[in-house]
Amino acid sequence: MSAQFTFQCQAQCCRTQARAGLFTTPHGVVETPRFMPVGTLANVKTITPDQLQATGAQMVLANTYHLHLQPGEEIVAQAGGLHQFMGWSGPMLTDSGGFQVFSLSEMRQIDETGVKFRSPKDGQIIHLTPERSIQIQNQLGADVIMAFDECPPYPATREAIAEATARTYRWLERCIAAHQRPDQALFGIVQGGVHLDLRAEAARSLAALDLPGYAIGGVSVGEPPELIEQIVKATTPLLPVDKPRYLMGVGTYREMAQAIAAGMDLFDCVIPTRLARHGNALVRGDRWNLKNARFREDFTPLDATCPCYTCQKFTRAYVSHLLRSREILAYTLLSIHNITELVRFTQEIRASILQGSFAEDFARWLAPTS
Ligand code: GUN
Ligand code: ZN
Repeated sequence: MSAQFTFQCQAQCCRTQARAGLFTTPHGVVETPRFMPVGTLANVKTITPDQLQATGAQMVLANTYHLHLQPGEEIVAQAGGLHQFMGWSGPMLTDSGGFQVFSLSEMRQIDETGVKFRSPKDGQIIHLTPERSIQIQNQLGADVIMAFDECPPYPATREAIAEATARTYRWLERCIAAHQRPDQALFGIVQGGVHLDLRAEAARSLAALDLPGYAIGGVSVGEPPELIEQIVKATTPLLPVDKPRYLMGVGTYREMAQAIAAGMDLFDCVIPTRLARHGNALVRGDRWNLKNARFREDFTPLDATCPCYTCQKFTRAYVSHLLRSREILAYTLLSIHNITELVRFTQEIRASILQGSFAEDFARWLAPTS
């Protein structure tokens, strides 16, 4: 690993594969395991970087697909890169774009060269290739950049999944060749769908490339949650122990707890901000819609155990009032709380790994209640 990126294991659970670590990047250290909030368009919707930092979030995601469409990587580069552009000085990660093309854009076409799609902005055809994705990510300037991969849909035939997995490997080789910046770490992504043998083969061939970090992709795409656990359990042990491991797109309590027990370190999900936009508060193991009549005269915090700004200052009745009045502050307060809640969940698990009580506490992490 380049000297600017290190992963140090601080504690390892004796009965599971859970570990607490320090992932050092040019913009600071990420204490793992840790949940990373999503800032698709170079902002975490409705909150400022200062508010984001106060949630305990250490690393933030942005998306190549969205930033390429708007405002374009040149503008971000002119601003001095993503960190300067958005005013976040901590570690950042960009996803590579292919996954977003498939989930968001109409009229897309995939072949060995890459993915073609029509820009939803001006109708132009855009050809995203492994080289192009890396070039854009080099211009955006996040600390961690992701390989351009093909995530097969669920369900898909074994043949289609095997082909996407093999192509993802060929694309990874092209990403490695195109990558220009030693101050950015390129993570590889293991695909393989629900087929554990394909996952194992992909993990082994990626591990041999000695990348600075590894991700498991292609989960949480509609398969039953038990399959996520199976995939993660079977794949994680095949990834290098001395590198950070990132489970993409997973941010539910149970799946994160299981993945941490299997040895995963980093997680991301749009759940906390998306729920906030729909008026929902995440409260350990539960979610409440604050528009519900029962909260109108409830003068307690969203969660009495939560240290966040929202829970320290405001009541359920107040948030309920803001939502009913469609005041923008409602979404800010809920986002602050929801992100704090998921980051805090991973921080508490980290503390239990450091104390040596993870295995004992595991049942509690699996079925969290407040
Ligand atoms: N986000 C969630 N899942 C995936 C995946 O499989 N690939 C990429 N690039 N991003 C993701
Ligand atoms: Zn809170």
